[in-house]
Amino acid sequence: MTNAYEIIDHEYDVVVVGAGGAGLRATLGAAKAGLRTACVTKVFPTRSHTVAAQGGISAALGNMGADDWRWHMYDTVKGSDWLGDQDAIEYLCRNAPAAVYELEHWGVPFSRTEDGRIYQRAFGGMTKNFGEGPIQRTCAAADRTGHAMLHTMYGQAVKQNAKFFIEYFALDLIMDDDGACRGLIAWKLSDGTMHRFNAKMTVLATGGYGRAYFTCTSAHTCTGDGNAMVLRAGLPLQDMEFVQFHPTGVYGAGVLITEGARGEGGYLTNSQGERFMERYAPSAKDLASRDVVSRAMMIEIREGRGVGSEKDHIHLNLSHLDPEVLRERLPGISESAKIFAGADVTKDPIPVLPTVHYNMGGIPANYHGEVVTKRGADNDCVVPGLMALGEAACVSVHGANRLGSNSLIDLVVFGRAAGLRCGELVKVGPNAPLPKNAGDDALARFDRFRYAGGGTPTARLRLRMQKVMQTNCAVFRTGEVLEEGRRLIREVYDGMPDLAVSDRTLIWNTDLLETLEFDNLIAQAIVTMESAAARKESRGAHAREDFPERNDSEWMKHTCAWFSNGKASLDYRPVHAFTMTKEVDYIPPKKRVY
Ligand code: FUM
Repeated sequence: MTNAYEIIDHEYDVVVVGAGGAGLRATLGAAKAGLRTACVTKVFPTRSHTVAAQGGISAALGNMGADDWRWHMYDTVKGSDWLGDQDAIEYLCRNAPAAVYELEHWGVPFSRTEDGRIYQRAFGGMTKNFGEGPIQRTCAAADRTGHAMLHTMYGQAVKQNAKFFIEYFALDLIMDDDGACRGLIAWKLSDGTMHRFNAKMTVLATGGYGRAYFTCTSAHTCTGDGNAMVLRAGLPLQDMEFVQFHPTGVYGAGVLITEGARGEGGYLTNSQGERFMERYAPSAKDLASRDVVSRAMMIEIREGRGVGSEKDHIHLNLSHLDPEVLRERLPGISESAKIFAGADVTKDPIPVLPTVHYNMGGIPANYHGEVVTKRGADNDCVVPGLMALGEAACVSVHGANRLGSNSLIDLVVFGRAAGLRCGELVKVGPNAPLPKNAGDDALARFDRFRYAGGGTPTARLRLRMQKVMQTNCAVFRTGEVLEEGRRLIREVYDGMPDLAVSDRTLIWNTDLLETLEFDNLIAQAIVTMESAAARKESRGAHAREDFPERNDSEWMKHTCAWFSNGKASLDYRPVHAFTMTKEVDYIPPKKRVY
């Protein structure tokens, strides 16, 4: 059946997959470096999930009082619960201010201070003077920062003459026998043709896999397609057990209410009206890191102090804030609260619940964006021709827990780094031809799903997967619950031979598309569950009730997970105990309190 497809060949120096913040920044950087650059994207660029990012982008600009990128670095290392690689964190924080000014010069409409500088708000875990107290470091465009960034960067990428392939679904990487990536194959959704991209560098910026869970703040498109392609190429994913729950998703709907709401003075209360965060994080209170706040909320609910008729959520209070602040700084979430919870934020509390928001784990990469199989102080073992960025990547700057607003800065700092690295590594000139059978395996897999004639609709199996992940790999975990999760997720996987795809057409076949996405999700769900069951300690977002302490002597290491024939296998690699330059010292582990 494979020969039945019309295959259209393309040749580029660089092909970026994904047009969110990281993908667009890398696309425009590679194009600016004079390279023939294409961006292949499942959705129209400005509909990529970065558009939903609300609260802001962190950088030590010092517009609201003194700041220093070294303080930002300290906070990020501490936020990561010492699982972050400190060379990469140094690179991130050192380069953050320049990346924000670049966005400003391109036209991102940041909110402003009275004297015209970029407005910065407080966010969880961001402090001054190495942990001394809260700081305003998160640059904001009201509560629509990602929207503003994405529209600005798309314009810039178009201006650089990058070629966009819009509504193309990437099926698989093309790898050669020496383990190098040579491009990818993609399905054009609007006409059913197959497109083979011969590229000297392929950059995966495909986002996270939030949709493996039942309730998440992620768009329906967040299916971790790049992560799954990497697994199918025989490469590992890293630290997949670390899944971030954002404290304030709207109860029942999952829609994000920005942490910026607490940054502007909002606070959480339980059924007794108590500001309970004062007990859990006496110094940072509601602006402790997300893992800490989410756990505190779940404990309140478990101990019977949740709000609502079922006592199963928490209140976020904003009604005491100046209506002008709500109107100017938080217009988007004021509207979301009304639409999704019927709450008028000037009068009513918003019902909220910790909701899956971000994947700290992903494709292992160094701070140039290159995919690595091993890292060293002086040299990394890179996969030639392959890069990974943004939420798809694990650089690892977020370690076991990402600080809010460190995601948007990760996108642009490492997107920029990848563009620069492409400029250094990729030689202009014709590409070597692809092997004749390039992409055949991907098309054979495509056919297996296109002609799937069993009795189980994909939506039914996907729902089972999402429920298992939500129940068995949640904010709190135990060995017993995770073991059950391993079994249940395996049962979901074993149901795949009975999948039914109702439609054989190639044009806008959404049933087939969702089946391919489900295949991507289930692989990530399995490696997430396996990685979580294996890590016998608590660190950042991975909270084991049976192993409540962090255990640096045995577990200060990254998990690497492979997936083959439905089975995950695990190995570990050390966290870097070195910085990028000699200008700052390695920050040694200590107990994390807020
Ligand atoms: O709460 C928020 O605005 C989300 C920001 C982030 O995840 O970085």
